[in-house]
Amino acid sequence: METRQKWFKAVLGLALALPLLASGQPGQPGEDGYDLWLRYRALPAAARAELLAHSRSLVGPTQDSPMLEAAAGEIERGVAQMGGRAPARAQAISSDGALVLATPASLPALASLGLPLAALGPEGYALRSTRLDGHAITLIAANTERGLLYGSFAWLRAVQLGADLAHLDEQSAPKVRWRMLDHWDNLDRTVERGYAGLSIWDWAALPGGPRERYVDYARANASLGINAAVLNNVNTRAEMLTAPWLFKVAALADVLRPYGIRVFVSARFSAPLEIGGLPTADPLDPRVRAWWRAKADEIYRLIPDFGGFLVKANSEGEPGPRDYGRSHMDGANMLADALAPHRGLVIWRAFVYSEKDADDRAKQAYTEFVPGDGKFAANVVVQVKNGPIDFQPREPFHPLFGAMPHTNLGLEFEITKEYLGFSTHLAYLGPLFEEVLRADTHQAPGATVARIVDGAQYGDGRPTLIAGVANIGTDRNWCGSQFDQANWYVFGRLAWDPELSAEAVAREWAARTFGHAPGVVDAIAQIMMGSREAVVDYMTPLGLAHLMGTSHHYGPAPWVAELARPEWNPVYYHRADADGIGFDRGASGSGAVAQYAPYWARRWGDAATTPPELLLWFHHVGWDERPAAFGDGRTVWEELVHRYDAGVAAVVAMRRAWDALAPAIDPRRHAEVASFLAVQEREARWWRDACVAYFQSLNHRALPAGVVAPAATLEQYRAMKFSFAAGRGG
Ligand code: GCU
Repeated sequence: METRQKWFKAVLGLALALPLLASGQPGQPGEDGYDLWLRYRALPAAARAELLAHSRSLVGPTQDSPMLEAAAGEIERGVAQMGGRAPARAQAISSDGALVLATPASLPALASLGLPLAALGPEGYALRSTRLDGHAITLIAANTERGLLYGSFAWLRAVQLGADLAHLDEQSAPKVRWRMLDHWDNLDRTVERGYAGLSIWDWAALPGGPRERYVDYARANASLGINAAVLNNVNTRAEMLTAPWLFKVAALADVLRPYGIRVFVSARFSAPLEIGGLPTADPLDPRVRAWWRAKADEIYRLIPDFGGFLVKANSEGEPGPRDYGRSHMDGANMLADALAPHRGLVIWRAFVYSEKDADDRAKQAYTEFVPGDGKFAANVVVQVKNGPIDFQPREPFHPLFGAMPHTNLGLEFEITKEYLGFSTHLAYLGPLFEEVLRADTHQAPGATVARIVDGAQYGDGRPTLIAGVANIGTDRNWCGSQFDQANWYVFGRLAWDPELSAEAVAREWAARTFGHAPGVVDAIAQIMMGSREAVVDYMTPLGLAHLMGTSHHYGPAPWVAELARPEWNPVYYHRADADGIGFDRGASGSGAVAQYAPYWARRWGDAATTPPELLLWFHHVGWDERPAAFGDGRTVWEELVHRYDAGVAAVVAMRRAWDALAPAIDPRRHAEVASFLAVQEREARWWRDACVAYFQSLNHRALPAGVVAPAATLEQYRAMKFSFAAGRGG
């Protein structure tokens, strides 16, 4: 509560102070966001001189390497654009101001400079201002070319952020092995839950067609350290595994490879039946096993560094091993056998729930997977969504984290905002990601989600993975909105280092994207940091979930009750009636709390010790109860309405803060964001009004004093239909 009020004050205070502070460098009038955070605008004179003094020449390992070429090319581009002239390439250090890309193999002297090379591993880098051969130089050092690629981007980031280039001393290595984007892109180029145009993969033109956008996509990913991409939707067609499509995949792999990105594809479990001419896809059938082995061999002949398969099996109607009475382990391990000779990985999703299972949907993945702990092959990663339902604005962390210590568990976030207002609502997901990563599962001392996922908790050497469902499409600004670029950004940064702070990343992104005048960065970071909680409040406050419109998930529809599968209906989740609201997941209800460690089972099992943010997720409470956790003496009904109002008010504050930034932001991007904030305010009111009207129709309570009545009647909200809502895919 208090934090909330502080945020309001801060965001408004900054907005009012801004005209005084806006001395930053506004961008160009026509800026459209295409450059993302790799926006190398000309620096002011002093900074330019400093940059040029530290990049007089570019000295690199001399071998012919596409990855080193990518690294050097980026440095040249960045320095030329920010400093006005590219560094001259040189074979050796012959003057002060050289920028030197070096590995122990290319520069044996590295060993004597005291760099922590062992700690950098195969992907880390160090930036160091030092002296070598009698000259003051900047070293970008790593054990591998890939480390040099990431180091080059890190050096450019330091330049953009105004670091002191004469005293650089920075090093970093990723904590997670696989930092992956999952594209839910269909073969007809639509994108499931995509709000940024069509698929960036021009499937029809591939393996031909223009390459520039793929290269820019790869540059952006490499700048964050993202090193893997699944190219197609988890709800996939078997055709993806046929030769003509594999040629297209191979062409993309060729473009992405110099930027360190390995390609994966989603594989349809029934492919042996559909494209293999077999009568079954039973994972224990020798013909099926042979078919997948041959398929893997075929793929690796085309793409020697192919990453592997992502599989959605026996989930939401997709085929899987259970169609043959086999387990998830049988299915995953069969594919793992086929890929193992090529060192490929199987990513097996734990997003399962069944219409035949009457148990609480939030419990089903745990029930199905925990008995398999320790039984998945070494090259299988079980990929778990951050929460037990489905990427809601807020969920508790998934109970599988910490419950399968003998299994490689990967974490899946959704970067595309399927449930947080698509691309027209400003919602920075950093706080959501951070909340999940920092959550302490209490399954063992120190067992946060981050430490379970990055391998620190249960030992090194495992394939570790953080995946994010991409929000990237053909829109000129890539993500549908300027601020959704920040979600791609923060995903990548946290996948590299899950301990980073969402706020620090927001500031970094804002500085790189909009310029680093201090007042501007403060104001933008303030807007961003409160934005996710605003969405929670105006959509699903107090632990509510899944109140969105049927199938497209656009807008409020808490009244929907008639869909065939119970757990597709919002009423399944909120369980509101005349007396109360919320899903009892305690001992008297579904018992889902028991899937968590005793620490949480105790706290969340009792409404009195459940934080307000998760109250209705775990408890059914009376409308007139006054939970102590609210701290303000309000009843449940009063608090619910209050939260809806607070959500709307937060959007109003965000709009004002953004308007005040007009003098400091280039007009085109400013106007685009402003127009979306207007949409967001309208839709936040719609959410608030429709939900308040609906819950009031059940509880017949008066609105709390001073609260404004909904603008329309419940019937009017219920009558709204959206046949062409965005993002449903093909
Ligand atoms: C959500 C989403 C689907 C998607 C599914 C998944 O339910 O709405 O479009 O296919 O998640 O993650 O598999």
